[in-house]
Amino acid sequence: MPAALNALSLIDSAPSQLFEVHPFAGAVGAEVIGLDLSRPLNAQDFARIHRAHLDHHVLVFRDQRITPEQQIAFSRRFGELQIHVLKQFLLQGHPEILIVSNIIENGQNIGLGDAGKFWHSDLSYKALPSLGSMLHAQELPDEGGDTLFADMHKAWDAVPAALRTLVAGRSAAHSYTARYAETRFEGNWRPALTAEQLAQVQEVIHPVVRTHPETGRQALFVSEGFTTRIVGLPEDESRDVLQQLYALSVLEHNVYRHQWQPHDLVFWDNRSLIHLAAGCPAHLRRKLYRTTIQGDAPF
Ligand code: SIN
Repeated sequence: MPAALNALSLIDSAPSQLFEVHPFAGAVGAEVIGLDLSRPLNAQDFARIHRAHLDHHVLVFRDQRITPEQQIAFSRRFGELQIHVLKQFLLQGHPEILIVSNIIENGQNIGLGDAGKFWHSDLSYKALPSLGSMLHAQELPDEGGDTLFADMHKAWDAVPAALRTLVAGRSAAHSYTARYAETRFEGNWRPALTAEQLAQVQEVIHPVVRTHPETGRQALFVSEGFTTRIVGLPEDESRDVLQQLYALSVLEHNVYRHQWQPHDLVFWDNRSLIHLAAGCPAHLRRKLYRTTIQGDAPF
């Protein structure tokens, strides 16, 4: 039987797993309890996870003893995977995985040490930004290293009427390079981008407010990490409006702070959330494997 058909029949015949989805007490996120991602998910279980992802925007799967291949296979159930522009930090043999790590070996960073140093939605600097991302914990520091997630539907709801009128229907520019070299974490360097890499990250324009393609809900789609200006506004006004929107995006009651536990896999929706890596002391080792799933052109 061809490999693809074989994989499909494995999925079809996989027994259902007994699992529960427990929403967090706060504004956003849920924990999935009892699901083993090293086993194939049948269509029914997959549909429940898909629904929970749309409803809660960030799902936490604890203690997942999965291989890179299994992370890639689970991610692929949601769509085509994206290959990060920083090829030097892709996992050998698995270019779908970006290594997020502050570890230095033989004088070289083994991964992107300061990924997520500013609030952002993954790959919003591409014409087709990420639908969602998965991070799987490999090595965790004893102190710090949390990841924060902010609900951009609630952010949009919080925008006062005058500001809504000003930005509704407008577009904003997103750029990978705008804050690329800015340092926030101690001890992490970023390689200079080659001409070929620069060509892959040309500025793009997206709506300031996007409609979630699966739920129809509206969400603010700007972030301090990648958004550089609102098209059609004078520079000063654009800067001022963006600062107001950023502040409304990360109101404490709309933020979930994830404190990592060994083997956690966290899967979030980049169309609904922005996220931030809180950072950890530079001498403590932190390593996670990230996959990103390609989404639609925002509208
Ligand atoms: C990221 O922004 O994808 C990385 C987040 C983290 O390292 O916590």
